[in-house]
Amino acid sequence: MPDALLEIRDLKLTAATDRGPAHILRGIDLDVRRRSILGIVGESGSGKSSLANVVIGLQGAALRTQGTVSLNGVDLLALNPAQMRNVRGREIAMVFQDPMTALNPVLRVGTQLVDVARRRHSALGKADAANLAAEALAKVGLSDPQRRLREYPHQFSGGMRQRAMIAMALLAQPELLIADEPTTALDATIEAQIVDLLIRLRDEFSGSIVFISHHLGTVARLCDEVAVMYGGHLVEYGPVRQTLSSPLHPYTQALVGCEVDEAAPDIPLKYIPGKVPDTTDQPQGCIFRARCEYAIEACATKMPELRNFGQDRRAACIRAEELS
Ligand SMILES: Nc1ncnc2c1ncn2[C@@H]1O[C@H](COP(=O)(O)OP(=O)(O)OP(=O)(O)O)[C@@H](O)[C@H]1O
Ligand SMILES: [Mg+2]
Repeated sequence: MPDALLEIRDLKLTAATDRGPAHILRGIDLDVRRRSILGIVGESGSGKSSLANVVIGLQGAALRTQGTVSLNGVDLLALNPAQMRNVRGREIAMVFQDPMTALNPVLRVGTQLVDVARRRHSALGKADAANLAAEALAKVGLSDPQRRLREYPHQFSGGMRQRAMIAMALLAQPELLIADEPTTALDATIEAQIVDLLIRLRDEFSGSIVFISHHLGTVARLCDEVAVMYGGHLVEYGPVRQTLSSPLHPYTQALVGCEVDEAAPDIPLKYIPGKVPDTTDQPQGCIFRARCEYAIEACATKMPELRNFGQDRRAACIRAEELS
């Protein structure tokens, strides 16, 4: 992809377990475009957080990576820990599901925001940095930002902490912001507010955003592209609207079919029968075959490659033409 900021090629992530090797990522090829928002969806255990952790260099020492993860042409997997720390916080930042893990509980919110602003603009004086921090808190919708700056993270509610994290990202202006289920721990109203905030602020970010979520509706509202993961594979990728309204992969179709129709609460919840493959399984053929209602004999031979379907769409299914 010519305008890619991040290029992931044949990325494999393996862990040694007492049941043999766990294949957490089984060969991912994925690009993140400049200035665009990519949503990553897929059932629990499909490898979304693991992928994010590899990109940010926090995958854990016991795990083995293969392949390349290039940011502006530099392979992050080849960097040493000190070089990777430099990339983190400068070029890549992350918003976690629980912002308490990223905010330091013993430092005032203001101290942490000022620190980020001064790391970004080294010539900035303390007072100017404090003004920028207050401005960022106001932008994310916190009232009385001067008072908030003097408070500690535990004095913030969950939604306010998530806003503080977004303010931090605005100050850091990373080239790549990864948000791993940033709204899952919040109630539905606050979640909607945070998503609205991200939509409003997206032009304030000069970089790209990777947004991991279970909610296809949220991804459809916020993102430009969507990547669908299953069992450590990328099974579909494409512009968000086309992909979710006319999926090419049976798994995407099944996920879309499970979305809750809030207008029809009496209809029983739908789910995809069967369960996601275990990381220690090495299934023959397509990874989704055992749960796929379109599976035929040919699906048992090998995992299908991601194929191009025009308009930047890609899917890993030998029957995709029949589905579309
Ligand atoms: N260090 C590890 N050692 C062994 N297995 C691991 C390790 N880290 C993750 N896994 C396994 O890899 C798989 C993918 O986990 P991951 O957390 O990436 O999924 P996810 O898509 O983010 O799920 P969720 O939607 O629940 O957050 C899971 O089966 C998990 O148990
Ligand atoms: Mg996760």
